[in-house]
Amino acid sequence: MKLNRKIIMIASAATLAFGAISLPASADDAPYTVTDGTHLDADSYKGFKLFRNWCARCHGTYGQGMVGPNLADSLKFISKDEFTKTVTNGKSGTIGSMPAWKKNKKVVAGMDQLYSYLKARSDGAIGVIKPKKTK
Ligand code: HEC
Repeated sequence: MKLNRKIIMIASAATLAFGAISLPASADDAPYTVTDGTHLDADSYKGFKLFRNWCARCHGTYGQGMVGPNLADSLKFISKDEFTKTVTNGKSGTIGSMPAWKKNKKVVAGMDQLYSYLKARSDGAIGVIKPKKTK
């Protein structure tokens, strides 16, 4: 009993520490901030722009899916780690084939920003609309 409680305490302390390290920008655990359902924080907005440049032709303008899967759905199920690995190394599966992005410096540098935008889409914080950047 005592040991169990200790483990839980250690686990929650670790969660707190991890949260503080990985998400310095906001108090809750969302990696984005959406205002009025239309405006994205600067990083997520950068993510949208990267997405539009490199990913939209296969995954749809706002990630809703085309020849590539709907990423707003995917991000409900895959972890940030899986996201990063998939984008870095590419993926061939039942739907089709995605090239690896590890040689694209902009995509690699913007991985967190891409994830933030798509997570905002996945959580429904921003819809299938052209987002604006929060001033
Ligand atoms: C040439 C078309 C194409 C482009 C461009 C492309 N993808 Fe993909 N992507 C695909 C296909 C096809 C799959 C599905 C592979 C499979 O599982 O069959 C996929 C799968 C994925 C997955 C995994 C989804 C899941 O449910 O496991 C992620 C994440 C992803 N793409 C992100 C991106 C990002 C981010 C970019 C831009 C940097 C991008 N893709 C650009 C075609 C593309």
